[in-house]
Amino acid sequence: MKRLANYQCFTLFMSVLMLCVAVRSQLTADFYSKTCPTLPQIVRKVVQNAIKVEMRMAASLLRLHFHDCFVNGCDGSILLDGTDVEKFSVANINSARGFEVVDAIKSAVESQCSGVVSCADILALAARDSTLLSGGPSWKVLLGRRDGMVSSQAQANLSLPSPFEGLNAIIAKFAAVGLNITDVVSLSGSHTIGLAKCATFSNRLFNFSGTGAPDSTLDSNMLSDLQSLCPVNGDGNKTTAFDRNSTDLFDNHYFQNLINNKGLLGSDQILYSSSEAVSTTKSIVESYSSNSKLFFNDFANSMIKMGNISPLTGSSGEIRKNCRVVNS
Ligand code: HEM
Ligand SMILES: *[C@@H]1O[C@H](CO)[C@@H](O)[C@H](O)[C@H]1NC(C)=O
Ligand SMILES: *[C@@H]1O[C@H](CO)[C@@H](O)[C@H](O)[C@H]1NC(C)=O
Ligand SMILES: *[C@@H]1O[C@H](CO)[C@@H](O)[C@H](O)[C@H]1NC(C)=O
Ligand SMILES: *[C@@H]1O[C@H](CO)[C@@H](O)[C@H](O)[C@H]1NC(C)=O
Ligand SMILES: *[C@@H]1O[C@H](CO)[C@@H](O)[C@H](O)[C@H]1NC(C)=O
Repeated sequence: MKRLANYQCFTLFMSVLMLCVAVRSQLTADFYSKTCPTLPQIVRKVVQNAIKVEMRMAASLLRLHFHDCFVNGCDGSILLDGTDVEKFSVANINSARGFEVVDAIKSAVESQCSGVVSCADILALAARDSTLLSGGPSWKVLLGRRDGMVSSQAQANLSLPSPFEGLNAIIAKFAAVGLNITDVVSLSGSHTIGLAKCATFSNRLFNFSGTGAPDSTLDSNMLSDLQSLCPVNGDGNKTTAFDRNSTDLFDNHYFQNLINNKGLLGSDQILYSSSEAVSTTKSIVESYSSNSKLFFNDFANSMIKMGNISPLTGSSGEIRKNCRVVNS
């Protein structure tokens, strides 16, 4: 009898302890309200200036947060310099950009509140501001992430989705980080802003999957435009807009484009046109194409979910002084 009581007491103790740990490890919107009250304004200002210089920077900063979160969680690991690091993985090399802007945000933040704000949180705030300043939705960014000590190119190669993958493979990569089919579609709506290189979609233009013909789910006018922009053996680094009608505006045209066979990447168009899409993503694309409010609302929720992928909290990780290097 006595033993059982002790055991129950121990169980209760452990439950309370685990509850405390669970609560402690949650991100919160007001995490820096005492230690860096002006943080949101500092980040907003630097992002605003960067976008004034180059509107595409909004897209580039949004993508950095995504690529950070999908590899070992949202821990700033994409920012680390080195040799076998994430920024040189397949999806990022000669492609991920905005690192100088993140440095500028970090130094502005350090000058106001030194040593308290993580680089991972800066990416989350910059992604929200980039979306909002492009005309998209806003949301309360949850904060309190700490910075990781490692950056794994091998993990980035495995975790980040490729434009050449099938829909089931992409859905699986999202599921691996706790994101579902709604998140796949809403977050892909990010491709309403920004640019992509010929090398990321030229597989669709001449001999798609060894068929000897272009991808039949690509609109014929858009096909001929893209064929002249990206000829066989042309410059794979040449870029074009995802959303040709409103390149810099965050809107729901991305989904309208998919319905008109005007998706740019293979991984975009399959959300609507593939056989796997029929029972998964197609109906969500249709909903967003006709309901911009629904898209904005779901996008904001999915960004918060993505920002919650395996954060380091409490005393895990560190607050980096320089986003490019682990503190010594
Ligand atoms: C669903 C799987 C996805 C694939 C396969 C994919 C792939 C790509 C590729 C190949 C590019 C062009 C990169 C280049 O040419 O340099 C790109 C750009 C971009 N991606 Fe994605 N992406 C996906 C999902 C996402 C998500 C979830 C987000 C954000 C939450 C996102 C945000 C962006 C943005 C904003 C750009 C433009 C970047 C710029 O102009 O600098 N993408 N993506
Ligand atoms: C990542 O992928 C690229 C391209 O396939 C390859 O060259 C590189 O060695 C890979 N890196 C690691 C660490 O696996
Ligand atoms: C995806 O998850 C969200 C909650 O995070 C939920 O509202 C939504 O219904 C889910 N979608 C699917 C297709 O299960
Ligand atoms: C298309 O690619 C396939 C496989 O790579 C190849 O066998 C075929 O000859 C190519 N067709 C044309 C028309 O180039
Ligand atoms: C793009 O440019 C980089 C650096 O100039 C080069 O290393 C790379 O091979 C080019 N990529 C393509 C697809 O042409
Ligand atoms: C852009 O707008 C025009 C006219 O409204 C429309 O016909 C076209 O399908 C839209 N999309 C693209 C990618 O051009």
